[in-house]
Amino acid sequence: MSNPASVHPVDPAFAANSRYTREEYERQYAESVRDPDAFWGRVAERLDWFKPPTKIKNVSYDLSDFRIKWYEDGELNVSVNCLDRHLAARGDKTALLFERDDPNQPAERITYRDLHARACRLANALRNLGVGKGDRVTIYLPMIPEAVVAMLACARIGAIHTVVFGGFAPNSIADRIADSASKLVITSDEGLRGGKKIALKANVDAALKLPGTNSVETVIVVRHTGAAVDMQMPRDRWYDAVVEGQPDECEPERMNAEDPLFILYTSGSTGKPKGVLHTSAGYLVYAAFTHEAVFDLREDDVYWCTADVGWVTGHSYIVYGPLANGATALVFEGVPNYPDVSRFWNVIDKHQVTIFYTAPTAIRALMRDGEEPVKKTSRQSLRLLGTVGEPINPEAWRWYYDVVGDGRCPIVDTWWQTETGGILITPLAGAIDLKPGSASKPFFGVQPALVDANGQVLDGEAEGNLVLTASWPGQMRTVYGDHQRFIETYFKTYPGNYFTGDGCRRDADGYYWITGRVDDVINVSGHRIGTAEVESALVLHPKVAEAAVVGFPHELKGQGIYAYVTLIAGEAPSEELRKELVAWVRKEIGPIATPDHLQWAPGLPKTRSGKIMRRILRKIAENAPDQLGDTSTLADPSVVESLVNERLGK
Ligand code: WTA
Repeated sequence: MSNPASVHPVDPAFAANSRYTREEYERQYAESVRDPDAFWGRVAERLDWFKPPTKIKNVSYDLSDFRIKWYEDGELNVSVNCLDRHLAARGDKTALLFERDDPNQPAERITYRDLHARACRLANALRNLGVGKGDRVTIYLPMIPEAVVAMLACARIGAIHTVVFGGFAPNSIADRIADSASKLVITSDEGLRGGKKIALKANVDAALKLPGTNSVETVIVVRHTGAAVDMQMPRDRWYDAVVEGQPDECEPERMNAEDPLFILYTSGSTGKPKGVLHTSAGYLVYAAFTHEAVFDLREDDVYWCTADVGWVTGHSYIVYGPLANGATALVFEGVPNYPDVSRFWNVIDKHQVTIFYTAPTAIRALMRDGEEPVKKTSRQSLRLLGTVGEPINPEAWRWYYDVVGDGRCPIVDTWWQTETGGILITPLAGAIDLKPGSASKPFFGVQPALVDANGQVLDGEAEGNLVLTASWPGQMRTVYGDHQRFIETYFKTYPGNYFTGDGCRRDADGYYWITGRVDDVINVSGHRIGTAEVESALVLHPKVAEAAVVGFPHELKGQGIYAYVTLIAGEAPSEELRKELVAWVRKEIGPIATPDHLQWAPGLPKTRSGKIMRRILRKIAENAPDQLGDTSTLADPSVVESLVNERLGK
């Protein structure tokens, strides 16, 4: 636990030039907790406001008087903060470095001036198409500059964007369009990842044939690979045609601090994905401030976050945080193993990347190929490494530190969630000693606590459920269209606190170690999948009577998806049907939800009241039949025996 050998003390050379020393961290953390108004009022001065806020924090987690508001009388525009205000001093600075899937295609440098002009042209075009403040726009694009431009264009005119990850299938796109009642969709002919084409426009076409999607009036299509696509007139418009002739300037919408900026769908433990809503000012203050502090940002950094803009990490740490800070951010279209497993490191050398932020799953996958593909590259430009999305196992941490960083670069293991808008628990590299596998200490203003199942707060060294006792500006404000679900999901379990859904341990030094989800959310390669979503997809198949889905430990993905399926009477299990069901889930939700294992279950373990006992199914999936625990409440204990035997291949 607090084995001194596993502590990496702050590197004095790094600390000498870093933004925060240990003393500064402690002093400012104490202030941020003691006087949030003073602290966050000062942090907000980093933004340009049409009208600076006079009220800073207005929050109550008390259910009878529930409210979360930050900077509520302030007015600003997010795109102005990401673009216009940099033009004077940083107009010619590279805002985005676009590295294409194919390394032989030239990379593109987009300056702040170019990006401003591109966002303004698209914003004007959107306004001409009748999109205005408060309207929803669905963005379903590959990792290309237009994705960033589209987000900023929405922000400019006050439209609420909802980015849908390119790996989602038509049904998932349709659900999100329907829930948000989007007026317009921005997509491209195709995506390109690792040399493989993804039929994005065709997926949108299929989605728009599904019920609930007729709010969509216009589809803007970026010509990316040049593939032939069906253009349905007058609905579908080419991106190039709509922006052509549009002015390079666009009057920004004056937004209230609490006006929505975006909706991003994420999986929960029950039902359909929920639309996490983030507002303008608090979110941007938090994304920008954490980006600068956690990555120890300097003016000349070349910063690369390998996430996709379809996830919150892409929103906060490719687009809004870096651009609000006037940084140079790399946008990567490809994958870590194409054309070969040195790709990440080659890109780092090619663009002289100084800060690199990726996911543990990518590190674990690359570790398998050994040191040689890394060591044949230089990586001398790197000075700071980061991880996000899931717990990093100490072995992967050490490989990242020793092999990728040559033992020179601190690693920030950043814990946060779609709901939190930005990083909440992380080391600050010049201030906090590192422990491999621990997200370490709370960021400024963040007040974590551990509670037991009864909500009792646990002190000192302890393990329990992670809650946050106080608000921070980047906190989500509601579930779009369902405020009650927001309150139920996050504030009812432990009254007076925000419940994260994560389990966590705190060691004797006060370091936090996230142990993973304690609800029915599976974290597959850092992507959140609700067990209920996969189950609903499976039972849609005509031959499936019932399904139960759990997570299980997976060497590369962190967690894998394990599905138990009961067929309807008269249907016999077969290898063919197994493959069909796996493909079915892929088609219904998207490739990220593909089950890793599908086991036939003549019956599922249920309590006498009919509740599926997932705890038991998890243990069987883990191959730990000796740890099933109490099975006395089972309606039919023989069910478990047959599942165990089948799992063990008996
Ligand atoms: C998990 C991604 C351990 C956690 C930003 C959380 C982590 C969920 C870490 C949110 C980390 C994220 N260490 N676990 N550094 N970062 N998680 O919404 O279970 O896609 O609740 O946001 O990922 O996933 P989400």
